[in-house]
Amino acid sequence: MELNLRVLMLGWCLCFAFGFALCRSVEGLENFGEREGLHSYLESDAVSPPASQPIMVGLTLIQGAAAKGAVCLDGTLPGYHLHPGSGSGANSWLVHLEGGGWCNTVRNCVYRKTTRRGSSKFMEKQLPFTGILSNKAEENPDFFNWNRVKIRYCDGASFNGAGQDEAAQLYFRGQQIWLAAIDELMSKGMKNADQALLSGCSAGGLASILHCDEFGNLFPKTTKVKCLSDAGMFLDAVDVSGGRALQNMFNGVVTLQDVKENLPSTCTSHLDPTSCFFPQNLVANIKTPLFLLNAAYDAWQVQESLAPPSADPHGTWRECKMNHERCNSSQIQFFQDFRNQMLKAINTFSKSDQNGLFINSCFAHCQSERQDTWFASDSPLIGNKGVAESVGDWFFDRATVKAIDCAYPCDKTCHNLDHSLTY
Ligand SMILES: *[C@@H]1O[C@H](CO)[C@@H](O)[C@H](O)[C@H]1NC(C)=O
Repeated sequence: MELNLRVLMLGWCLCFAFGFALCRSVEGLENFGEREGLHSYLESDAVSPPASQPIMVGLTLIQGAAAKGAVCLDGTLPGYHLHPGSGSGANSWLVHLEGGGWCNTVRNCVYRKTTRRGSSKFMEKQLPFTGILSNKAEENPDFFNWNRVKIRYCDGASFNGAGQDEAAQLYFRGQQIWLAAIDELMSKGMKNADQALLSGCSAGGLASILHCDEFGNLFPKTTKVKCLSDAGMFLDAVDVSGGRALQNMFNGVVTLQDVKENLPSTCTSHLDPTSCFFPQNLVANIKTPLFLLNAAYDAWQVQESLAPPSADPHGTWRECKMNHERCNSSQIQFFQDFRNQMLKAINTFSKSDQNGLFINSCFAHCQSERQDTWFASDSPLIGNKGVAESVGDWFFDRATVKAIDCAYPCDKTCHNLDHSLTY
C-alpha cells in the first residue's frame, strides 16, 4: 500500500517536472517573437502561455445590473468569468478584479467605450485562467479547486466611480459594478463561503485595496477573508521632470468620475480625495488582512509615472525606462529612491501580524495571473520562496510572510518585462 503510494507520487512528480520543461520551451519561443509594447502587453493582462492549454472560462453578463445603475462606461452590462470550485474548494471563493489603466478625461473615457475596458460589447467571450486563476494543482497549488472569478473592468476608475456625463454619454458606475457583481456572486453561493480572497492586478490591485474592507464586511467572523493586491501600490511619486505625473492623472480620474464618495472616510477626513486614491494613504488603516505583492521597480510606474513622455520631452529616459540595463548610475539611483519610497509607504502596514508582503527587486508588473511568475520551475523568488507559496503561506497562516528583497541588482530570479519589449 505504502509502496504503491510512493510509485504514484514519483510518477506524478515526473509529470510535474516534464510539464514545467514544456512550459519553459513554449514560453521561450513566444518571448522571442514578442514585439508588442508594454501597453498592449498589460492590456492583454500579461498572461503568458502555461504548461498545458489553460482552461477557457466564459463571460457572464450581470443581467440585473442595469436596473441598479451598474453599467460599463458605454451603458452596456458588466460581466465576470466564473469557474466553479470543487472538492475541498467548493466553499472557497477567489474574486479577482481585472486591471487595465484608468480614464481621466472625457476624451479618453469616450475612447475607452470603444474597447473592452469600457464596454462589454468588446469583451472576450472567454478568457484563459492561468496563475492564481488556474484550475490545475501543479500550476496553482492552493487555490486551484476554489470557485475562481474574474470580474471584468469596464468603468475606468478602479471599480470606484459614480455619476455620469450626459453630453458625452458616459456612465461612471464603478462602485455600482462592484456591488452588482458581489451581489450576484453572493447569490451564486459566495454567501456560504468559509474562505474568501479578494485579489486584483494593477488598476484591479488598487481596487482590491479600495474594496478590501467592504469585502471583509460581507462575511461573518467565522469566514477567513483576506485581500491580495498585485501591482496595486501606485506611489504618489515625483517624476523625472520634478512634477507628479501620476498624481495629475489620478486627480483627473477622481474628479471626473466622482470617486470621492466611495473612498474611506478615515482618509478623506484629513486628506484630499486624490491623495486617498493612493494606497500609501490607505493600507495602514485597512482592517481586513492584506497582502501586497509588488515589484519594487514596478515596470508600469517606471514607464508611466516616473518617466512618462510628458515628463521626458527630450526622450533622455526612453532607452533606460524600456530596459534597465541601459540606465546610467544616476538613473538607477532614481529607481532606488523610488524603491525607498515604496518601502516607506508600507512601513506601518508591515508591522501588523495579519498582513503579508512580497516586494521583489524586479522590473515587473502583475505577477499573480501570469503562470511564469506565479508558479513555475523558475519563478521569481525572495530567499527560496516564490509568489504562489508566499501568498498561500500567508493566506492559510502556515507562515509569516514579510518578504522584502535586497535592492537591485541582487535578484537573479526576476522575470523583467523590459528585456523583450519595445514601445
Ligand atoms: C545619466 O543620463 C541622464 C539622461 O541622459 C543624464 O542627464 C545624466 O547626466 C547621466 N548621468 C550620468 C552619471 O552619466
